[in-house]
Formats: sequence, structure tokens, C-alpha cells
Amino acid sequence: QKGGYEHYMRKEIHEQPTALRQTLGSRVDVNAGTASLDVDFPKGYLESLEEIQLLAMGTSYYAGQYAATLFESLAGVRATPVMASEYTYTGGRDPWRTLSVAVTQSGETADTLGALREAGAAGARTLGVTNTLGSSVTREADDALFIRAGPEIGVAATKTFASQVSTLALLAIAIGRERGELSAAEARSHLEDLTGLPGAIQQVLDEEARIRETAHEYADSDAFFFVGREYGHPVALEGALKLKEISYDHAEGFAAGELKHGPLALVTDQTPVLAVLTEGSRPQETLNNVAEVQARGAPTIGVTSDDVAASSLTETFDVPDAGIFEPLVANVYFQLFAYHVANAKGRSIDKPRNLAKSVTVE
Ligand code: M6R
Repeated sequence: QKGGYEHYMRKEIHEQPTALRQTLGSRVDVNAGTASLDVDFPKGYLESLEEIQLLAMGTSYYAGQYAATLFESLAGVRATPVMASEYTYTGGRDPWRTLSVAVTQSGETADTLGALREAGAAGARTLGVTNTLGSSVTREADDALFIRAGPEIGVAATKTFASQVSTLALLAIAIGRERGELSAAEARSHLEDLTGLPGAIQQVLDEEARIRETAHEYADSDAFFFVGREYGHPVALEGALKLKEISYDHAEGFAAGELKHGPLALVTDQTPVLAVLTEGSRPQETLNNVAEVQARGAPTIGVTSDDVAASSLTETFDVPDAGIFEPLVANVYFQLFAYHVANAKGRSIDKPRNLAKSVTVE
């Protein structure tokens, strides 16, 4: 069942290239610069859209945060990620012009379903983005969009994060084209980056031995901090969630610029700082923040891409070119790092203490 892997989590990390091929598959026409998703919005709906809300929890929330920036920059629509447990529909806007998107791997998360119901009751159009055919979200939302990642057994979400972001990216491209916000050439370039993701992620997976060594070297640290900007910010938050969830170590993610507004007080030579320094994460500005933690003696582990000069870091890991999706590729290093820290400590990786795969109570 685990296909020769010791844990489902590691198997599912390694399944990402295949999962992404399924996610993108028949939906992308790179030459035409189009993405087709099996959702028929009413005529004129996308042109009149004023706001997209991304309602989700946990890893799906971070996918929603990544997607919110994609919707704003590729489709020109105001987009907000909302922690579903905190959602209340506030009035003052036209609900018809609001698309409320529930992002949920299982399709059964109670908080997310609760937010979706509230949005629907207020008159917003609702869309469920899920991995699970026939789940509650597919029955309750006006439309459903499948991420097609295949079953995910490990409690820690891994391959579904990449497939959620990619599915939402296709939606952002489709909406951007429909609204005339994105030229065919721009769409083509983003679609090329997306279709290159399976290969790019495979190259990261091929580096597993080195990230494993680094994970073992730092496994006994006091705490771990993850930083990033722009698309690197949700990836920093997701990296910290993965590590705390399966290793039980203290891990926190921050917007890199947030460090000196408080968290810097936590930084010592016993707290490695992992930074996203790729395209799409404002690497030069983040490097300034990394220099601040280096000055406090923190070991620094950076995920970089070609043109980022990060030679002063303790360790660097490269990602291949993938444009604004490079942070998504960087995330695979963070998944492997978390896995190997937890494995070195003999944790119950596929079923961490106190947690369930699907949280069906609020
Ligand atoms: O099934 P969902 O995507 O709605 O689940 C949401 C969260 O419970 C989930 O992502 C959780 O945070 C993961 N265990 C994180 O790895």
C-alpha cells in the first residue's frame, strides 16, 4: 500500500509530479494560452465579479492565501483568504459580485462548510475546490472543482497543497483571460511555468539526501522559524505548520518583514531560520531580513533560484525556474525537511498525536 515507502507522507511527497500532471492534464492549452475548468459560470458573471473570498483551514488556508495573490495579480479581482472558523459575512457589498471559494482537501471540514453555508445564505455564489468526489462541499456549493491529486492518507497535507494552488492558478488565469486582465502571451508564460512544475519538483525530490542530512543536523534545535514574502509568505507558514504537526517541535512562520517587529527576540544560534528566496518571494528584501538573523547567530537555510546571490547563508537549496510558482517548488524542500526531522525523532508521522485527517467538528 505504501509502495515501498516507510510512511504515506513520504510517498505522497514523492507523488507530487504525478498528482500535478493529473491536476493540470487536459485542462491546459499552453499554445492557446487558455485554461479550461469544468465550471460554467453564468454569462457575464466573471466580468462583474468584485471579490473572491477563499475560505479554508490549515494547509488549505495557506493554499488560499497563495491563490488570493494570484487572483489579484493575474485576474485583477480583489481576493481575501479567510480562516473559515473566523468567517462572518459582513454586508455592504453586492453578494452576487462575490465568489466564495471553499478550499478543502477532504470536503468535510466543519469550519469550512460552516463558512460556505454562511456565504451562500447571504447570496454569494459558492465554489468548492476539493480532492474528494461526492464530499459534503461538492453537494453544498453551487459548483465544484476537483484538484485531482489522488487519495492522501497521511494526516499532514502534502501533495494536495501543490494541486490546490495549481488548480486555483488555472482558475485565476481563466478569469484573467475572460476579464481581459491577462494577455494570451502572459497566460502562456504562466501556463508554461505550471506545466513545468512536475519536472521542477522532481529535481527537488532528487535532492532529498542533502535535505535529509540538513534536517538531521538541525533536528535538536530549540525552535525553527520560516520566513518569506509575497508567495513565499504562505509557503513559510505552511513549512512551519508541517514541521510542528509531525515533529512536535516549536516552529513558526512569519512574513520576513515582520521579524524585527517582535519575533527577532526569539532568534538565537539554536533557532535555524528557513527562508524562501526564489522568484515570486521578493528575495532581495528577504535577504536583508536574513542578514538580521545571521547577525544574531542563527543558522540560515535558504531556498533560492538562479539569480539570487545568497552565498552568505549556512545552506542553500536551489529550485529550477518556475516563475511565480517557485515558492510552491520550494515548499517541497520544507516538506522533506519536516519529514526527516520528525523521522529522526521517531514520531508517528502519518498519525501525529491529537490530530485527525479530517476535522468534522467546529
Ligand atoms: O480537508 P481540509 O483541506 O479542509 O483540511 C484542512 C486542515 O485541517 C488540514 O489542511 C490540516 O491543517 C493538515 N493536517 C495540515 O497538514
